[in-house]
Amino acid sequence: MATPRAVVVGCGHYLPERVVENEELTGWVDTSDEWIRTRSGIERRHFAAEGEKTSDLAIQAARMALADAGLTGADIDAVVLATATPDQTFPSTATRVQAALGMGEGFAFDIQAVCAGFVFALANATALIGSGQAKRVLVIGAETFSRILDWNDRTTCVLFGDGAGAVILEAQVGTGTNADRGVLSTILRSDGRFNDLLYVDGGVSTTQTAGVLKMQGREVFKHAVQKLAIAGEEALEAADLKVEDVAWVVPHQANLRIIKATADRIGIPLEKIVVTVQDHGNTSAASIPLALSVANSEGRFKPGDLLLMEAIGGGLTWGAATLRW
Ligand code: UT7
Repeated sequence: MATPRAVVVGCGHYLPERVVENEELTGWVDTSDEWIRTRSGIERRHFAAEGEKTSDLAIQAARMALADAGLTGADIDAVVLATATPDQTFPSTATRVQAALGMGEGFAFDIQAVCAGFVFALANATALIGSGQAKRVLVIGAETFSRILDWNDRTTCVLFGDGAGAVILEAQVGTGTNADRGVLSTILRSDGRFNDLLYVDGGVSTTQTAGVLKMQGREVFKHAVQKLAIAGEEALEAADLKVEDVAWVVPHQANLRIIKATADRIGIPLEKIVVTVQDHGNTSAASIPLALSVANSEGRFKPGDLLLMEAIGGGLTWGAATLRW
């Protein structure tokens, strides 16, 4: 049966110029390179320059994805942008990207699922393509988490960075089998009973300030490994695929120990995992598309490779997706 599939036809990423090594952080945070490396795997991260906004990062990543696909803004029907650090309360950061790309038509909106945002955006974009509402969707994850870090909280401020990643999904006719290229399954989950494990202590209707990030790291860690492994397995099952079919795992890049422990539970060897956390830190919704685009520019994916993506963030919110390259 002819099935509209959401196939990746281009990807891109952008990292702010400023690189902050662990060692530099020790200048103003009571921490050490050794602690950060051994507990998280992070070695450095990028921070946006003063005045550099989430939309600026997103626009750069989007331009690279368009160039990679050989398309222009006029070829895009929709922009779906995942972020927890928008430029403003409204309008959506996605509409800023839409304007910058010269898209006079179509539509754009933001998705808020924190670090799981890209998986949620991918699922929404796939649904827009599946229902015929869009033929080409620009899916972006973009964050400036450096703006919401508490520099007096060493348990969180050393873990995050800024960046953006983007993919372009295009409707292509598939056969309806899991041999098709494109997104094959998406699993979305959340459990609001865990709101207090990871949140920002400000907001429009509460404090009228942006607030700073608060996290019970050890608790989030435990949920992450368990929930990501289950979601990953569910995504494979939903597409009638087995763990042996996976060519690459592109996980949310929060902590190397979480990445390894999750892959271990699912039964995937380390050499099949794309790891960028050492260079980017945790960039929340940007982390998967960033890792995807970096790996793609290194020529690591071959047509037909099966990719498994999984992410978890504040909410708690988590999910997974399978995608044939
Ligand atoms: O993207 C959303 C998902 N978020 C995550 O996935 C993050 C999940 N959590 C984690 O990645 C880890 O829990 C952390 C990296 C945040 C922490 O690692 P941990 O092994 O769970 O360490 P801990 O919180 O149990 O802290 C161990 C020790 C503590 O000292 P005591 O109480 O043992 O004396 C902390 O005070 O490490 C201390 N510590 C630090 N020391 C130096 C905490 N932060 C730092 C620091 N530098 N930056």
